[in-house]
Amino acid sequence: METLYWKDGVLYVLDQTVIPHDVEYVSCRTYSEAADTIRSMQVRGAPAIGVVAAYGMVLAALAALSKNREELQNELIRASSILIETRPTAVNLRWALERMMARAAAAEGDSEAVCAVMLNEAEAIFGEDISSNERMGAYGQELVPQQARILTHCNAGALATAGFGTALGVIRAAHRAGKEIGVYATETRPYMQGTRLTTFELMREGIEVTLITDGMAAYLMSARGLDLVVVGADRIAANGDVANKIGTYGLAVSARFHGVPFYVAAPRSTIDMRVPDGARIPIEERDHVEITHFRGGRVAPEGVGVWNPAFDITPNELITAIITEAGVLRSPYGPALEEIMWTEGT
Ligand code: MRU
Repeated sequence: METLYWKDGVLYVLDQTVIPHDVEYVSCRTYSEAADTIRSMQVRGAPAIGVVAAYGMVLAALAALSKNREELQNELIRASSILIETRPTAVNLRWALERMMARAAAAEGDSEAVCAVMLNEAEAIFGEDISSNERMGAYGQELVPQQARILTHCNAGALATAGFGTALGVIRAAHRAGKEIGVYATETRPYMQGTRLTTFELMREGIEVTLITDGMAAYLMSARGLDLVVVGADRIAANGDVANKIGTYGLAVSARFHGVPFYVAAPRSTIDMRVPDGARIPIEERDHVEITHFRGGRVAPEGVGVWNPAFDITPNELITAIITEAGVLRSPYGPALEEIMWTEGT
């Protein structure tokens, strides 16, 4: 099952709002439709959002095929400005859009030639994401002991990427290496990515998974014991602070208290050397209805105050290691990140 695919000029995106009940694809023929799938959470997860944005730019270019280079460039600028506004925290979105714009600007020839180059670039972004995840899995699974009890949060799996996954890629690789692991998945209030998506992915792969509510994690560590926590990331600042799904920070604090290693798995496309620390990462705040309502019905009293940040910042000092496709990084993260970000082809 693919998170997204491109066929005959159309982008197909797996609708994650209906999983696990249905497996349906949404077809996108325009960049606005691609932007809608991100905005509506039909696709989510930092790398997957970046890949959809890249194909969104191809759709914008195709729509301007008959125009001259200057008009095409204006269309691309317009599309990029719409796509960038869809979600603010995951930096993969900006990374993919900048890469697509740079490729278009450097392309030679007419608009048709630019379209072809842009499609190649989107396909490269798609393919590189999968191979990065596989490399992360290979590095990360070395950190997973035999019979490990592992906790993960949100969904950082194949569904959140072009395929294989980041945190779930590490888990998948450990499973494929023959380790008899058991995974605890937090439900991930309020959007339930853990309940709906992580359990779905792991069960399909035949990996033992136990669902818990977010509030049970600290007690799980003290009552049952845990070998490690592994999560994904939406943006990693230059000092190693990590923005990830709301609740990640609390898990890192609990893990430190209980002496449990806390790992973050993310590709270089999630690392933002332009932000010095986590305090400068924009945090998306979502609709209050996600908290006040359940299955379409109100559960909170009318008029109650609500705060609904979708992500939080885990300070780098709580992170045991950051697993990337270029290797496993340890503190101090500043120089380690600098080294991998300026090293090509690692
Ligand atoms: O709001 P979401 O579902 O897009 O949030 C996703 C996460 O926080 C993931 O942990 C993160 O993007 C890493 S995905 C490989």
